[in-house]
Amino acid sequence: MSDALRALFRRAHGQLPPAPQHGVESFYALGHELDVVCDGTACHFAGGPGIDPQLPRVRCVGHCYEAPSRLTGPSVATGNGHPALLKNLASTPVVLRHLLTDSRGEADHDDLPSGDDILAVIEGVGLRGRGGAAYPTAAKWKVAKAQPSAEKWVVANGDEGDPGSWIDRLLLERSPHAVLAGMRACGRAIGANRGVVYIRGEYPRARAAVEAALAEERFDDMRIHVVGGHGSYVVGEETALLNAIEGQRGEPRPKPPYPAVSGLFGKPTVVQNVETLSIIPHIVRANSGASHKAICVAGAVREPACVEVTLGTPLRRVLNEACGGPREGSRWTMALVGGPLGRVIPAAAFDVELAYDALPGLGHGGVVVFDASVSPGALFRHLAEFARSESCGSCTPCRVGSARIADMRDTPSLDRLLTTMEMGSLCGFGQGVPRPIRDLVELCGERVLG
Ligand SMILES: Cc1cc2nc3c(=O)[nH]c(=O)nc-3n(C[C@H](O)[C@H](O)[C@H](O)COP(=O)(O)O)c2cc1C
Ligand code: SF4
Repeated sequence: MSDALRALFRRAHGQLPPAPQHGVESFYALGHELDVVCDGTACHFAGGPGIDPQLPRVRCVGHCYEAPSRLTGPSVATGNGHPALLKNLASTPVVLRHLLTDSRGEADHDDLPSGDDILAVIEGVGLRGRGGAAYPTAAKWKVAKAQPSAEKWVVANGDEGDPGSWIDRLLLERSPHAVLAGMRACGRAIGANRGVVYIRGEYPRARAAVEAALAEERFDDMRIHVVGGHGSYVVGEETALLNAIEGQRGEPRPKPPYPAVSGLFGKPTVVQNVETLSIIPHIVRANSGASHKAICVAGAVREPACVEVTLGTPLRRVLNEACGGPREGSRWTMALVGGPLGRVIPAAAFDVELAYDALPGLGHGGVVVFDASVSPGALFRHLAEFARSESCGSCTPCRVGSARIADMRDTPSLDRLLTTMEMGSLCGFGQGVPRPIRDLVELCGERVLG
């Protein structure tokens, strides 16, 4: 945390005594050592934890395409050496445009229109957030803009917790200027002059790249801080993220109030995903591009890749045209789409369109494809273990429910447990955990349990 943010934190909360300080520190999983093996979905099934069973496990390090991977030290991720391929199935690249051309995106800062014009374009194109909830961006901005506060914040959500997604890491590492330009455009639209880029601790190179970009740029209109994470999936939820930035336990806050009304340090705040922010400058300039989405594909395909598509593109087309079809000698059985709170799609349904309405649960667009080497029961146990170990524990339906999924031996009991979680959980984690598990049981029956 920067000194300026630390000072703000003290202003809001005072100096923490030792016991609550311990409470904060014990919430997070990552220590200062970054020697960890990845146990995210692609790495888990590629034998990741077996690389060194003594090392702590994290989910995930954002190198799913070269599973299994291990993060060693502040800057090196080692995996099987498969490169981070970028493919474009859309007309002209929007999400990947700087990554494909190796340009830094500095032109994005030029000639930003007025705040009202920016807001009108974002509303006109109907941009929806890419972080998972697919919420209309302009609706959030309008609420923040309407708040009578001299202090407002823009927060870039670079937590990218979903195992199976790595686009935010690529954008932060290779195109940080575009993300910063998106933050400035948002700030101008809502009247904010302060910003935070929150970057997960598992992405040390991303943090270094953003800090270098900030050192290169001088903004008169916005002061931007960088805050690093310490290991927690739930901190990606926007209100938990705000608590984490404030130096508190990364537990979600009850909503309302929504962050646009009362967010960071109680001030109106817009939290926006990194991919969303990175495409905003282009959308503002071109008045188009809001239907482009990055889809990351790993697992049982020949060429794992990050693929830019137009929303509505069938999953099968992405897997065949961009990722080379099934891995040699294998036949697809199913895919986990949208991470561990997403959907399990059987291979027979791969014609499904990748779009928010056609596929609720598309989330951040991570896809891990499976063949017969991964049994449905193994995927069930993986999802149940993810839920158990990542639940933040602050509300009972999710704390108890997540811990008990793996113990369920029949579908009526599992159904009751999942319904309680869906209806009673405080945040999208407990509400979303049941989704892929229900898909799996529907697809494969009770044999996945136990
Ligand atoms: C458990 C949980 C984890 C989340 N993790 C992330 C994340 O890693 N990155 C992200 O951008 N949004 C994440 N979200 C969604 C955020 O709460 C929020 O909707 C998003 O950052 C808003 O930005 P967007 O509108 O640009 O998507 C998560 C939500 C939940 C419930
Ligand atoms: S639903 Fe789960 S992750 Fe969300 S607040 Fe409750 S315990 Fe924490």
